[in-house]
Amino acid sequence: MTDLSTRYMGLTLKNPIVVGSCGLTKSVDRIRQCEEAGAGAVVLKSIFEEQICHQVAELIQASSSGDAWGHPEAAEYIGQYGRDDAVSSFLRLVEESKKTTSIPIIASIHCVTAGTWLEFAKRLEGAGADALELNLHVHSTDPKLTGADKEKIYFDVVARVKQASRLPVALKVAPYFSSPANVLVRLSRSGVDSLTLFNRLYRLDFDIEKRQVVPAKFLSAKDEHLLALRWISILSPQAGCDLAAATGIHDSAAVIKQLLAGAKATQVVSALYQHGLGHLRTMLDELEAWMQRSGYATIEAFRGTMSQAKSGNAAAFERVQFMKYSVGIK
Ligand SMILES: Cc1cc2nc3c(=O)[nH]c(=O)nc-3n(C[C@H](O)[C@H](O)[C@H](O)COP(=O)(O)O)c2cc1C
Repeated sequence: MTDLSTRYMGLTLKNPIVVGSCGLTKSVDRIRQCEEAGAGAVVLKSIFEEQICHQVAELIQASSSGDAWGHPEAAEYIGQYGRDDAVSSFLRLVEESKKTTSIPIIASIHCVTAGTWLEFAKRLEGAGADALELNLHVHSTDPKLTGADKEKIYFDVVARVKQASRLPVALKVAPYFSSPANVLVRLSRSGVDSLTLFNRLYRLDFDIEKRQVVPAKFLSAKDEHLLALRWISILSPQAGCDLAAATGIHDSAAVIKQLLAGAKATQVVSALYQHGLGHLRTMLDELEAWMQRSGYATIEAFRGTMSQAKSGNAAAFERVQFMKYSVGIK
C-alpha cells in the first residue's frame, strides 16, 4: 500500500498537494470541490490586513490619485471590499468549511505590518481554522528602508502572531532578501511553523500603445518551480520549521522534485486555473505511480533525499555545475 500522507505544521494531510490561496478557495462550495478533487488541504483566499483594520477609506484616497499609477479600478475593488463585512464573512467561511469538509482549512491573511489585525488571529482559532498562513510582503521601494529594517518587520510579525494565537503559522514570503539563506534560516528558527517558498508577487507591465500600467501575466509558468526547488534543497537540511513549496508547481514531477528537495507540502494554483480541479487527481495518481515504481511506501521514505545536505557547500556545488554547463556552450 502506498501512503501519500504527510505531516505539515503538526497537521496530518492525506497527501502533500494543497490548493494555495486563490479564488478556488474563496467559498464553501469551492472548498468542498477542492476536497472532492483530492486536495490534501486548502489555503483560503486571503483576507487583507486593510480589510481587518478598516483602513479602506485611506486606501481608496491613496489609490485614486488619477495618473497611470493610480489604478481607479483598484479603488473600486477596495471600496467593494469595504462595503462587504469582510471580517465576519471570512470567519463564517472558516466555520462553514470546517463543518462541511474534513481536510485541514488554513486561513490566510495578507499583511504588511504587525498591526491591529493580530487580534483577528485569535478569532480564527475560535472559528476552527487549523492553521494560518501569513502572506507577508514588505515592499522595498523606499531607498531609505534598509535590509535590516525590512527583515525586522518579518521577525516582529512572527513573534507577535505567535503570541496572539496558538494556531500553527506559515509565513509565505517572496525570495527578495539581501541574503535569503541567512534570513530564511533565522526565520525558520523564530517560532514559525512553516515557510511557504515562494510567494509570486503581482507584477506590473506597460501597455506601450495606451501608455498605461497593466498587470503582467497573472498565472505562473511551469519552470518557475525551479526557484523554490533550489532554495528548498539548500534550506531544508538547516531549517527549524517545515517548508512548503509554491509557485510554478504544475505537474506531478514538480511535486515529486519539491518533496525530494525536502518540502513537506506543495501548493498549486495556476495549474488548476489552467486545467481544472480534475488535474489534482492526475497529479496524485502520477505521484502514487512514481512512488510504487520507485519502491517508496511513504512520503518520508524519500522526502529530502535530494536536498543539498550532503553537498556541504551549496555555493561551490552550484559554481561547479555552472562551470560544467557553460564550458559546453559555444
Ligand atoms: C487568481 C489568483 C488569486 C490569488 N489570491 C491570493 C491570495 O488571496 N492570497 C495569497 O497569498 N496568494 C494569492 N494568490 C497567489 C497564489 O496563492 C500562489 O502563491 C501563486 O499563484 C503562485 O502559485 P502557482 O504558480 O501555483 O500559481 C493568487 C493567485 C491567483 C492566480
